[in-house]
Amino acid sequence: MPVETLITEAAIQERVCALGQAIERDYTGKPLTIVAVLTGSLILLADLVRQIGIPHRIALLQASSYRGATTTSTTLVVNESFAPDVSDRDVLLLDDILDTGQTLSALVRHVADRGARSVRTAVLLRKIGRQTVPLEPDYSGFTIPDAFVVGYGLDYNDDYRHLPYVGILKD
Ligand code: XMP
Repeated sequence: MPVETLITEAAIQERVCALGQAIERDYTGKPLTIVAVLTGSLILLADLVRQIGIPHRIALLQASSYRGATTTSTTLVVNESFAPDVSDRDVLLLDDILDTGQTLSALVRHVADRGARSVRTAVLLRKIGRQTVPLEPDYSGFTIPDAFVVGYGLDYNDDYRHLPYVGILKD
């Protein structure tokens, strides 16, 4: 399927660099652990951590949401075999995109319940007009229109993650 470029590789690199500098400034002297939500944030994680010039840890979290058969509510199930030890750490949760906000807000609770000193959030993208759960990300790369996007970690059926830019999938 064709992909129409929405955010260029150069624009992403520039923004990720600025986010890294802001994170470095805010977390200097703190026990930072960046917890990236699989799989969409992997490319962002790799680029971002190389812009953060202070010691920090990296961890991964795998979560899947299931919609109940008879209800519209979704339940988020976290794969505990990936669960990082976040006790007494300042955690920065990293995700590719904030859509409804359900995933990230559930994960903030999850990490806080496991003894983190603090939990903040960072996303590359934020979709306009889609949020159903109030959550203001502490670091956000770009605000985008309500369209399905792929590239830079984001997928459609596990394809397109490798693209160095973010684009809108045209069917
Ligand atoms: P919520 O609604 O919980 O969802 O904020 C966040 C997760 O939904 C996926 N998502 C997308 N994935 N293109 C994608 O490839 C999109 O346009 C898109 N919108 C939402 C994504 O996994 C994200 O972590």
